[in-house]
Amino acid sequence: MSDYSTAAICRSWWMKDHPARNRFEQLKRQHRTEVLVIGAGITGLSTAIELARRGHRVTVCEAQVIGSGTTAGSSAHLDAHPEFGARRLIDQMGLDEAKTFTKLRLQALNQIESLASSKVDFVRLPGYQYSERLDDEDQLRDECKAAAELGLSASWCSGVPLARAACGYQVGNMARFDCCDYLECLTEIAVDSGVAIFEKTMVAGPTEKTTAELPAGDGSVRAEHIICATHCNFVKAKLLYAATPPYQSYLLVAKVGNPPPDALFWDKSDPYYYVRRVSEDSNSLILVGGCDHRTGTKNTVDPVQDLEAWTLDRFNVQQIVHRWSAELFEPTDGLPMIGLAPGYDNVWVATGLSGIGLTLGTVAAQMIADGIEGKPILLESQLSPSRFALSTDWIKEQGVASANMAQRVLPATDVEIDDLTSCEGTVGKVHGKQIAVCRDEHGCVHQLDPVCPHMGGVVAWNEEEQTWDCPLHGGRLTASGERLYGPPESDLKPK
Ligand SMILES: Cc1cc2nc3c(=O)[nH]c(=O)nc-3n(C[C@H](O)[C@H](O)[C@H](O)COP(=O)(O)OP(=O)(O)OC[C@H]3O[C@@H](n4cnc5c(N)ncnc54)[C@H](O)[C@@H]3O)c2cc1C
Ligand code: FES
Repeated sequence: MSDYSTAAICRSWWMKDHPARNRFEQLKRQHRTEVLVIGAGITGLSTAIELARRGHRVTVCEAQVIGSGTTAGSSAHLDAHPEFGARRLIDQMGLDEAKTFTKLRLQALNQIESLASSKVDFVRLPGYQYSERLDDEDQLRDECKAAAELGLSASWCSGVPLARAACGYQVGNMARFDCCDYLECLTEIAVDSGVAIFEKTMVAGPTEKTTAELPAGDGSVRAEHIICATHCNFVKAKLLYAATPPYQSYLLVAKVGNPPPDALFWDKSDPYYYVRRVSEDSNSLILVGGCDHRTGTKNTVDPVQDLEAWTLDRFNVQQIVHRWSAELFEPTDGLPMIGLAPGYDNVWVATGLSGIGLTLGTVAAQMIADGIEGKPILLESQLSPSRFALSTDWIKEQGVASANMAQRVLPATDVEIDDLTSCEGTVGKVHGKQIAVCRDEHGCVHQLDPVCPHMGGVVAWNEEEQTWDCPLHGGRLTASGERLYGPPESDLKPK
């Protein structure tokens, strides 16, 4: 068995014990199935299992290998608390729909618990939404009330058990798990349920209204229904790309002398931070995350340093033992896009899952299976990928996209390749030509066309992950330009 950890989307803490490895063959022929699932993360595998258990013939094609996607790069919290606030969810969806949305996420938590075998480290625990500022108490008390209205077991807490927490509330019966254990468990269940799986089998994006056949790996797949469980949007609908812009998020694991109790903690700042213990048997290890920013844009404060400083300020840190970052797709109206793809008859998508996609990917399995069977889909119109809100956030996102495209015509700054140190990269002018140039960790220089092969975005260097990231729709390519992830279906050209 080969080790493909280098082809993984990120190198998370969980992957240390579960390096991505190749278990299934590549597709090299024409293959017929009833349902083709593209992508084998939590969304793709959960949907494949749901459909196979309902008696459908299902095939999963994974471009890399199982466990190399964002699921394995997550912080592995399982919660049903609205990410952008309980009151806003009620105001935006209406109370009944917001309760249904929360109930679906609570059911997803139960579903994950019931599918998780004894080999999966899954633990129920409370979550705390808190603030370090007493001034936030009134607002958090209202949030606590709204969370209870949604059906969560939320209660005001006189002392949130975390350094510097000034006020906050508890939400009972949330969970944490090892996301790679769970992917392995889902893979076993999928195989036992008769799902055919191919790895190293990238599928081309569907373009026909009724898509019957798609190139996949070294062959092709004919299917009646196609499910894009690729995390990012993968259909030709440009509005859907615009409505789910990519963000980078950062995590670290630290060994500390004063770990908090075994619970999930989310603070109220913007951008926010979260913290928890890594697991029961590693009492002194904590996981800290946050500092999200739009892919390809630089913050004035380095997010990695920011996260470290936040951790050092609050914990007795003995060592920072691991760091990584991964990408999420943040819907501009805050709600995921799950359902029939706009402009298609038989293509389904689940994207815009933001930072709560472990539960939402599980919810998507049920919704898409119902849709394929012609049954009513809960919250169909609210979560439909065809909805489109011309919100100010959407317009702001278009500004980022336009600024990125403008880089193709604006004069670029000159780059001296000899000045680049190991792990450094940039886009600039070399001998009069605009190029993406980096010196990788082994000292090897790569000179590439900076224009993304998907829709022409200009890539940006991601120093933490040593990748070229496309700010437009979140494509990610290796230092030497090979496609790793996201909408691009080919590599950056050498220049
Ligand atoms: C740093 C970070 C922390 C997070 N923490 C949490 C958390 O604590 N709790 C939570 O609920 N959510 C969290 N999330 C969000 C969550 O991780 C994601 O929403 C979720 O994992 C998405 O799962 P997925 O199966 O849709 O995508 P993925 O796990 O990325 O799987 C998609 C798969 O599709 C494959 N693929 C892509 N294109 C093709 C193609 N053309 N052909 C074939 N295969 C293809 C990819 O290789 C990949 O394996 C976090 C996200 C980030 C970035
Ligand atoms: S232009 Fe779409 S990912 Fe680069």
